[in-house]
Amino acid sequence: MKIFLDTANLESIKKFNDMGLLDGITTNPSLLSKEKGNPKNTMEEITKIIKGDVSLEVVSTEYSGMMEEGKRLREYGDNVVVKVPMTPDGLKACKSLSSEGIPVNVTLIFSPNQALLAAKSGAKYVSPFIGRLDDIGQDGMHLIEDIREIFDNYDFETEILVASIRHPIHVVDAAKIGADVVTLPPVVLEKMMQHPLTKIGLENFLADWEKLKAGNPDIKI
Ligand code: G3P
Repeated sequence: MKIFLDTANLESIKKFNDMGLLDGITTNPSLLSKEKGNPKNTMEEITKIIKGDVSLEVVSTEYSGMMEEGKRLREYGDNVVVKVPMTPDGLKACKSLSSEGIPVNVTLIFSPNQALLAAKSGAKYVSPFIGRLDDIGQDGMHLIEDIREIFDNYDFETEILVASIRHPIHVVDAAKIGADVVTLPPVVLEKMMQHPLTKIGLENFLADWEKLKAGNPDIKI
């Protein structure tokens, strides 16, 4: 399963990229609005730091505007994936951009039928938002199961990019279902590394090493 980071924060992107964890990045206007500086520079910088796919989102709601913005976004780098909303104009732009060889991520997916239509339009990725479904009392992960089954039934190559992830259990469940990608807020990726027994175990190893050193002051590893 690929891991993307769901952020426009350059510090976080560099940090996790240096650990070799990142296969790509997803951004959106809300994530960009949280960062200081010129968003254009931020988007360009992200495409340079990350070798994998970087989703950058259009803000036009009309087909022609989406096409113009999509082509401008693509100028930031060959690894740019144009993110369009799940609307009729978004699907038309998905079809046109994909036909021109520009990969598309269809975002704001909340139903299996929306995912099916986005795949038919040629999307490289569909982004179902599971946390926002959980927030309104629906089972977000059930949507991932449905999309996986439908895409497998018909051999769609479109990848399921699980978005709006809130906690590490979402990641485990998405991986068990066979989602292609999870896009994680930095805080969730941070939590995935941690376990209390790892912390306690390391503290014990270091304490025992100190005891060893007390009897052998010159000891080194
Ligand atoms: O990638 C989409 C994601 O950023 C949405 O997450 O937490 O705003 O529902 P959230």
